Amino acid sequence: MRSDFVTVLDLGNQSATCLVAEATDRGWRVVGHHTVPSKGMRRGLVADQDEAARTVAAAMRGLTAKTGLQPEGVVVGVGGAHVEGHAAQGFVPIIPPGRPVQREDVLQVVNHSRQILVPPDREQIQALPREFRIDGQRGIQQPIGKRGSQLEVLTLILTGQTAQLQSLERAVSANGRRVEQMVVKGLASGLGVLSQEARERGAVVVDLGAGSTEVAVFGDGVLVYAASVPLGSELVTSDVSKLVQTAPDEAERLKVQHGSAWAAAVDKADVVDVLQVGQTQLRPMRRRVLCEIIESRMREIAGFVRQHVERSGYGAQGGLPIVLTGRGALLDGLTELFQDVFEGARASVAAPNAVGLGGTRAERMGFAAACGLAAFAIESLENELVPASGGNGWRDRIRTFWSLWGGRS
Ligand SMILES: Nc1ncnc2c1ncn2[C@@H]1O[C@H](COP(=O)(O)OP(=O)(O)OP(=O)(O)O)[C@@H](O)[C@H]1O
Ligand SMILES: [Mg+2]
Repeated sequence: MRSDFVTVLDLGNQSATCLVAEATDRGWRVVGHHTVPSKGMRRGLVADQDEAARTVAAAMRGLTAKTGLQPEGVVVGVGGAHVEGHAAQGFVPIIPPGRPVQREDVLQVVNHSRQILVPPDREQIQALPREFRIDGQRGIQQPIGKRGSQLEVLTLILTGQTAQLQSLERAVSANGRRVEQMVVKGLASGLGVLSQEARERGAVVVDLGAGSTEVAVFGDGVLVYAASVPLGSELVTSDVSKLVQTAPDEAERLKVQHGSAWAAAVDKADVVDVLQVGQTQLRPMRRRVLCEIIESRMREIAGFVRQHVERSGYGAQGGLPIVLTGRGALLDGLTELFQDVFEGARASVAAPNAVGLGGTRAERMGFAAACGLAAFAIESLENELVPASGGNGWRDRIRTFWSLWGGRS
């Protein structure tokens, strides 16, 4: 059943956002959102259960105060290096042969692809169609209405470590809320910032957070690979803090106000004033040195992103455009750095543009994942895969979607 509102939670390392979206005739819109400082997360993982639960509670309270809504079910973003993708395949006969494929056949065939073996410490988060085939005809994106006798699907099954998923679930349920669905954050960020056309052309979406960097590779309109680099922008701050010998707050200020990930473009004569630990007066420092520290860590992160893109099979060289988002992507010089590391690929910075989101472009950069969670939730509400077993948790109601790719079914 299609309910009007969906509530999503992006529990980040530095901030946590709750957002309510509403399905409309023309898609969906943001009804309200609330962001609080986050505690209890490290490198995209739940590190302290109680702190994480308190963070969720604060974000939910703020959302209720703003919207008057008391959501019971929440769609939760899951990130971190434990998330993995596996290729799978499913088949179903179309009976009687030759009748048009229906929605139910699509759900059934995607569900069939979920019968792959997953290591005992992991479980499935999502099953996403990459390509449908009917009687051997390949490359079908939207099979509904086409005729044949056998429907086949190639899917990307995303799995996560059970212990991590449980911790995330407990942080939500400790507040009396139910997890409706888990959605991989890299996928969400991609849905948050890429248009349908951009997904079809293909892109690597890089969400630079405080604690982790989520990577999603889109090709031919669909997600083909998702991964997480357990390093983020807060590591840059801590490098600056150590190497320049400043307090963390001062290091953060230096990074945000004067930092760049492309040191070569910084004038050698530029000087910034720095308050070092144990000092009472500002002292001048060459800005180029500051930016070299920042570039060095960011180059490492970009290198790991490149390794993932290579692993995805969508090659790094001269390949897909790189789209940077997350508030970490507000750092100056990042597009130059990524273009350098990816040897000529185009890099750009993108913010979500959802109806009703509001805010400046810089503010919206932090909402890529939350907006994509809402897009996924709204588009997939009616696409529940048949329960593999009894029970009624999110695990038995894994949702899939394909309508975003090929128009609504
Ligand atoms: N103007 C800016 N310039 C450079 N960096 C910035 C700027 N504003 C914020 N950041 C950095 O962005 C990071 C926070 O990004 P974001 O809010 O997207 O993270 P998060 O979602 O809480 O974390 P994660 O996604 O890792 O769980 C911080 O490390 C912060 O220093
Ligand atoms: Mg984030």
